[in-house]
Amino acid sequence: FSPLSVTASSPSSSTTLAQSQGLNIKLIPTKPIEGQKTGTSGLRKKVKVFMQDNYLANWIQALFNSLPPEDYKDGVLVLGGDGRYFNREASQIIIKIAAGNGVAKILVGKEGILSTPAVSAVIRKRKAMFNTFLIFDFLANGGFIMSASHNPGGPDYDWGIKFNYSSGQPAPESITDKIYGNTLSISEIKVADIPDVDLTSLGVTKYGNFTVEVVDPVADYLELMEDVFDFSLIRSLLSRPDFRFIFDAMHAVTGAYAKPIFVDKLGAGLNSVANGVPLEDFGHGHPDPNLTYAKDLVNIMYGENAPDFGAASDGDGDRNMILGGEFFVTPSDSVAIIAANAQEAIPYFQSGPKGLARSMPTSGALDRVAHKLNLPFYEVPTGWKFFGNLMDAGKLSICGEESFGTGSDHVREKDGIWAVLAWLSIIAYLNKDKKPGEQLISVADVVKKHWATYGRNFFSRYDYEECESEGANKMVEHLRDLVSRSKAGDKYGNYVLHLADDFNYTDPVDGSVASKQGVRFIFTDGSRIIFRLSGTGSAGATVRLYIEQFEPDVSKHNLDAQAALKPLIDLSLSLSKLKDFTGREKPTVIT
Ligand code: G6P
Ligand code: ZN
Repeated sequence: FSPLSVTASSPSSSTTLAQSQGLNIKLIPTKPIEGQKTGTSGLRKKVKVFMQDNYLANWIQALFNSLPPEDYKDGVLVLGGDGRYFNREASQIIIKIAAGNGVAKILVGKEGILSTPAVSAVIRKRKAMFNTFLIFDFLANGGFIMSASHNPGGPDYDWGIKFNYSSGQPAPESITDKIYGNTLSISEIKVADIPDVDLTSLGVTKYGNFTVEVVDPVADYLELMEDVFDFSLIRSLLSRPDFRFIFDAMHAVTGAYAKPIFVDKLGAGLNSVANGVPLEDFGHGHPDPNLTYAKDLVNIMYGENAPDFGAASDGDGDRNMILGGEFFVTPSDSVAIIAANAQEAIPYFQSGPKGLARSMPTSGALDRVAHKLNLPFYEVPTGWKFFGNLMDAGKLSICGEESFGTGSDHVREKDGIWAVLAWLSIIAYLNKDKKPGEQLISVADVVKKHWATYGRNFFSRYDYEECESEGANKMVEHLRDLVSRSKAGDKYGNYVLHLADDFNYTDPVDGSVASKQGVRFIFTDGSRIIFRLSGTGSAGATVRLYIEQFEPDVSKHNLDAQAALKPLIDLSLSLSKLKDFTGREKPTVIT
């Protein structure tokens, strides 16, 4: 196949422009291709779709056509990805088109590898260097991430591309809308006539005035982690013989980071990293760190002689799951516990977090921490992009989502390894005075103590994947209708309604409004039932039902979440008529 017609080099169909930057730039004629609308996580399609002639090239050229020239001409862009199938070919296409459009320099991770948070870190770092030293050459204007996150990879699976802007955050909708518009009118692609770049070894190569620098994917990110955390504190824990740690990289991008960070820097045993080699098809796995897909790790952590701490991260390294021995930390609890302990255990937060935030469906555990610590608190719609403005405005330090995303303002993406280091810091801090042989404070102890202090927010999410869109949409209409007819004080079984709405968000920084972000029923005891349709599914409609109930009574904290939430779950199913609308008896995934 030839993903970019230029590689087939047919002189009749391309024109060589005047030399630009000492390069021959070819104009390749092309035609618009349908369906290139970018979601907020970028463009995600099956690999086979991206392999069509000019498919990726069109989108990349449309991106350059959408950016103000000063954002890339003579500028520096970062390029990396999660190591999935097609990244190698895609890297060459992106580099040649970037050069063709006048980019001065591409910083690319060795073998095309860079995790999503690492791309964000590299963009921010190179930008900071510009600000501090006024070294023009280091100005990074943005970067490309080649990943379809936690979706499976390989010739029959998914590929994706995303553009992040100069503070390291995903490009805003104003840009992605323009890119889509330009994909509908594109007529030519500007391609530099240079050979394929060798991405297998570090170093700088010049082609005329265009430079490619192959960088170590770990170095800048590791340096940032060493600034954020007290590595000697974490090392004191990981090198203890009575603390056993396992990190499952799921054959995805964090495989490149796990050994240099956990083993080489922090003293964990070599065999503490599982599935640590990034593979193009993630070893046939589904690299999503949850109880369903991270089965190997779950079996180990719930098996005989389980380690003390287990963690996993997803395809591109932004999601995380934290486990103790026979104990699962929900993402909603995880962010609350990190926030509650950050000031003591993590140097980056030594003057206290500036503010806390969660996505709307995420449980209210974090709200209680914000209240107790007297910190500004924000509830935003689902989607990491909503945290960025608050961070840039200095209002937000720590945030999280129920969808296994946790992070802080050290970058503008959620960050899986950061979350693991945050948890290790907390466990290390609480055990720092423990002598060998003394019982250590475990992950479960930390969570249970947190519940005892703040109360427990029982939480569960039911996913009904790939439903027929029509039924799912009708259900949402039915729920909206219910909302419009309901009022405070209405009785739903044993629950009394406090408020029902379709969540609306006004960004406190730029005043932009996001409406219809999920139907909520909030009851007087703080319990919540929330319905939304996923914005990331690739086929049909995925209905998500989120159920939450607050329990102040410590004697009930050890209940199983499904048992504790049973009455609310039954109520959710009956008020939504979910089975009638979707024809589904059971969810496909429960978290
Ligand atoms: C991605 C986004 C998250 C979002 C998650 C689930 O990981 O980065 O911000 O929470 O998808 O989104 P969905 O719309 O499928 O519930
Ligand atoms: Zn991801």
